[in-house]
Amino acid sequence: MNKPFYITTPIYYINGVPHIGHAYTTIAADCLSRYKRSRGFDVYFLTGTDEHGQKVLKAAQDKGLSPIEFADSILPSFKEAWGKLLITYDDFIRTTEKRHIDTVQYFLQALYDKGDLYLGEYEGLYCVPCEVFWTEKQVENDLCPDCKRPVEKIKESNYFFKISAYRDWLLDYIKENPGFVRPESRRNEVLGFLQEGGLNDLCVSRPRSRLSWGIPLPFSPDHVTYVWFDALVNYLSALGFPKEKERFEKFWPVCVHLIGKDILRQHAVLWPIMLHALGIDPPRMVFAHGWWQVGQEKMSKSLGNVVDPLDVIDEFGIDVFRYFLLREVPFGADGVFSKDALTKRFNGDLANDLGNLVYRTLTMAEKYFDSKVPALDRPALDDIGRNKILPKIDELGAKVDSAMERFDFIGALDAIWGLIGAANKYVEETKPWNLKKENRDRELENFIALLIEAIRCVAKEITPFMPQTSEKILAQVGLEVVKKGEPLFPRIEKEK
Ligand code: MSP
Repeated sequence: MNKPFYITTPIYYINGVPHIGHAYTTIAADCLSRYKRSRGFDVYFLTGTDEHGQKVLKAAQDKGLSPIEFADSILPSFKEAWGKLLITYDDFIRTTEKRHIDTVQYFLQALYDKGDLYLGEYEGLYCVPCEVFWTEKQVENDLCPDCKRPVEKIKESNYFFKISAYRDWLLDYIKENPGFVRPESRRNEVLGFLQEGGLNDLCVSRPRSRLSWGIPLPFSPDHVTYVWFDALVNYLSALGFPKEKERFEKFWPVCVHLIGKDILRQHAVLWPIMLHALGIDPPRMVFAHGWWQVGQEKMSKSLGNVVDPLDVIDEFGIDVFRYFLLREVPFGADGVFSKDALTKRFNGDLANDLGNLVYRTLTMAEKYFDSKVPALDRPALDDIGRNKILPKIDELGAKVDSAMERFDFIGALDAIWGLIGAANKYVEETKPWNLKKENRDRELENFIALLIEAIRCVAKEITPFMPQTSEKILAQVGLEVVKKGEPLFPRIEKEK
């Protein structure tokens, strides 16, 4: 049986259309999924939308729609964007689906039966017009940080989850399982947070009279579930938990959550505690990536600098966008998005390196051999071919494996580009036009056969990153007769 691999993205709030931050996690998850499938894994790739809570309700009210009408109206923009970005998800979950609501209610009831939920008084500073609670620290002069109107101290009765009781367990768990929170800097952040002090019990309900848009608590229908508690459970509801035992047992132990660093605590503190309280092991890994910014600024709607992934792909192409996001910054670090940087990668890595290798090789094959690929005669290769190119071809798969195991996309791409660079250098050093002049046809044949072998190998390994380009190249070099076609990445002359 194939080994299972379960990978998730956060479920995105449906109060706005997808932006580059959403695209980033989703592309990274897609790249890992495609890579694992290429290595024979049985992959379950989950994404979806987070549809309950205040933010969605408010966005719906602003449009004069019911929350579900509103969610239904935004949903296609996510599905279309993921279609255009060639995202091969296996499941798309919406938190308004019955399968999810059932699992959340099961979860709550089980925690309640176990005695981990208790009724208490929730007290906080509340802005009535914004319908938002603020902490003492956030509020200055009793004014709402958003609308600057006075906040009120309000009290309401709510259910609390005894997460404080699990702090020591979690601390030990994270210490004993160094691979659970990744990268290391994020692991240290979580350890620091847990070591700093106790955890407060978490309020996991809202009175329905104040917030109507949520999943009712099964044991107290006058309360709805806190949106984060609701959202995290999606990773289990998609597996059909608790009913579909077999699927759960197959995929849960190999689950990897990809998230942005801003939602680390929910995933690395609250979520493992929720699971542990019910006797379920934490997921295998929570990997938090960094943030994309524009210039020195954070991307935000109010600054008007949000990058729309669809604009970028219209201008540069899908694969170029995917390649850029995964090549430009180490996965885990922050990055700066700019068209200049994209153009540089395009002209350098894609046009000069990859595109050039394919085009010049196929041009030679056409010119010298009428596009018929000669058979590769390994023992007859020249020194460079035998010592520098062939080993790189033979070792590429293993090098990509070792990088991808660490979610080191740059490492994998560097290995692939190592072969591309060596092959381009091989052309420059061999000077095939001289071989032709000197009638050394056997050598010339073998030289081209090796280059084509290198290109095939590159095309296979870039599939997870650039599926369209890979397909195009394989269509050009996959058969005994190659097809030259147009350059894959015609240089962009003006820096944008
Ligand atoms: N709904 C919650 C997640 C629940 S998961 C059980 C949520 N949604 S979100 O739509 O606001 O954000 C989803 C992800 O997008 C987060 O991981 C966040 O880090 C990521 N990004 C949002 N803006 C980003 C950038 N500018 N750069 C990179 N990722 C960022 O949070």
